[in-house]
This record gives sequence, C-alpha cells and structure tokens, in this order.
Amino acid sequence: MKDGRFITMAFESSCDETSVAVLEDGRKVLSNVISSQIDIFKQYGGVVPEIASRHHLENINTVIEEAMSQAEVGWQHIDLIGVTYGPGLVGALLMGVATAKAVAFAHDIPLVGVHHIIGHICANFIEYPDLEPPFMALVTSGGHTNIIEMEDYNRCRVLGATRDDAVGEAYDKVARVLGLGYPGGPKMDALAKSGNPAAINFKRVYLEAGSLDFSFSGLKTAVLNYLNHEKQAGRQINKADVAASFQQAVMDVIVDKTMEAVTGSQYNKLALAGGVAANSRLRAMLEEACRQKDVELYRPAPILCTDNGAMIGCAAYYKYHEMGADSLDMDAYPNLPL
Ligand code: KG4
Ligand code: ZN
Repeated sequence: MKDGRFITMAFESSCDETSVAVLEDGRKVLSNVISSQIDIFKQYGGVVPEIASRHHLENINTVIEEAMSQAEVGWQHIDLIGVTYGPGLVGALLMGVATAKAVAFAHDIPLVGVHHIIGHICANFIEYPDLEPPFMALVTSGGHTNIIEMEDYNRCRVLGATRDDAVGEAYDKVARVLGLGYPGGPKMDALAKSGNPAAINFKRVYLEAGSLDFSFSGLKTAVLNYLNHEKQAGRQINKADVAASFQQAVMDVIVDKTMEAVTGSQYNKLALAGGVAANSRLRAMLEEACRQKDVELYRPAPILCTDNGAMIGCAAYYKYHEMGADSLDMDAYPNLPL
C-alpha cells in the first residue's frame, strides 16, 4: 500500500490465453491485457498443449509490460502477485506460476495462488462492485460445468458437476464435426440464431432425480449419429437447425438444474461464470427463469467470462486478505480440486 491504493498484479495462463492484469483494491481493473492464441489453434482445430506453453513463454514479458504501462504502475507500486495455479494444462500453468514466482521473489512482493474456477466466479465482483457472497454460481467453461454455492469469498461448496464432458468442450466438439472451426462455442451460438431449436429432438439428459450433476457426452454422440444417419439417407444437413437443437437440449438441462439449485437454496442471487456464460441463449433463458422466480441474475461482460487476468487478481486479493501469502515453492496443479 504505497500510495493509499492496494495494487494486485495477476497472471492467467491455464489454457490458451496469456493474460496479465493490474487491479486497485481488488475490484477496480486498471488493465487486463489478454493475448489470445485462438488464431494459432484454428489451424489445429483445438489447443495443442506444448505449443500453448511455448507461446505463453514468448508472450509473457510483452503482456506484463503492456499491463503495467496501461495501468501506469511500476514494480514499486505492486502489493500482491496473484496467479492461476490450477486446474489447467500443466505446461501452460507452469509458465504463469514460474513467472509470478520470479517477479514476486525479485521484487519482494507476496504471492498468492488462485483456483481458476474461483477466479471465474470472482469476475462477478468486478462487474458488480456491490455484490457480496453468499450466492449461487453457475460455472460453464471449456473445462468445467459446475453449480456452486459461494458461501464466502474463500469458501464454496460444489453442488453439481459434469460427469464427463464440460459443456464448452461439447460445444467445441459438435462445432468441429459441423465444420465450424475453433473455438466452436461462439460460432455455434451465432449459427443457432438462424436455426430452429425444435427441429431435432435431442434427448435431455437429467440423470437420477434430484441430482444436480450433468452429462453431455451422450448428446455429443447423438449429434454425430444424427449427422451420419442423415448423410447415409442422402439428405441435406441444415447446420443451423443442428446447432440450435443441440444448444436447446444443453441449455434446457442447465437452466432447469441451476434454477432447481437456486430455488432450493436460501439465496436469491445467481452469478454466471466461465466462457459459456457468454452464450446468448443461456443468458436469455436464465434472465427469463430468474425474472419468474424473483432471483437476481449477475452476468459479467463476455470479456470477463472467458479467461482473463483480472478475475484472478480479484480472487487473489480476497484470498490474501483472509489467508495470507503462499510460499514461493508453490507448484502448478493440473487437477487442483475445489
Ligand atoms: O472459460 P474459458 O475461456 O476457458 C476455460 O476455462 O475453459 O471458456 C472457453 C470455452 C470454450 O469451450 C468456448 O467454445 C466456450 O467457452 N464459449 C462459448 C461461447 N463463448 C465461449 N460457448 C457457447 N457460446 C458462446 N457464446
Ligand atoms: Zn477458464
């Protein structure tokens, strides 16, 4: 706290975004520089872990300089370093963790490791400065699908999780077989707008009664089977109808289970998080469902939904103030549990 402000610098490199952010007092974003590798991975149809790690290494110094320059801060202003230490691709995580440890050591700044999913949820604190826990959160990304009870800034309970594919992963896989390219989620979202969501009746998978878990791998197979069947029958495939019908089957289940969790809880606040929270259909359906049940819905801007350093900085701020700094021998954990 050198000039009355508490400044956090945060690193996010768990997948294919190299991001560094600078925040003031936990929630105010001074800079949030995101260097995306999406263009590189388009040619491969998905993320290649070794290539992602190499690009993090090549980009990180430039991203740090840009983040500091936009925030108009020097090392002497920084009070805390935050970094995603899991879950994610191990080589990619290690680039962020090694860099964060190096700058923390070189400049004698406390270091805090952040769980990527907690970071995603904290994007809501940035978008909504008055939001306080407790609340329910729906985390939908390329790696996760969770319904989480956020009891406090640093305490949460997982009420439901996917048993196989994450929802973003299912979107990306279906987009690939439809030939839409990578990343498939936003392309499916856009294409579905011109399709008929009732054109194909894909099965809604609810699992056992009362379960808040998800399963999307059967739906992905159902789309593949449908496409093969139509091709064999010599029929033209309407990709927009497939995208819209797939999306509706996914979102019907997600919205039903999320609302079951919220209405069964003592809270009337629901926060969205993760890349798929940018999905227009999910937002529209939850807006309507929350309006009917008198639940307050929090939806960060799409740039705060996908991977970014600002959300990690916010989570680091709250973790540090309750639990103190982590040790400099912190490691990266690809399967870090919540
Ligand atoms: O949170 P994120 O940036 O990275 C992970 O932590 O996984 O999420 C990326 C995922 C990808 O699967 C991408 O296809 C999906 O979020 N996504 C979307 C949309 N925008 C991003 N899925 C559906 N509709 C969207 N508009
Ligand atoms: Zn993420």
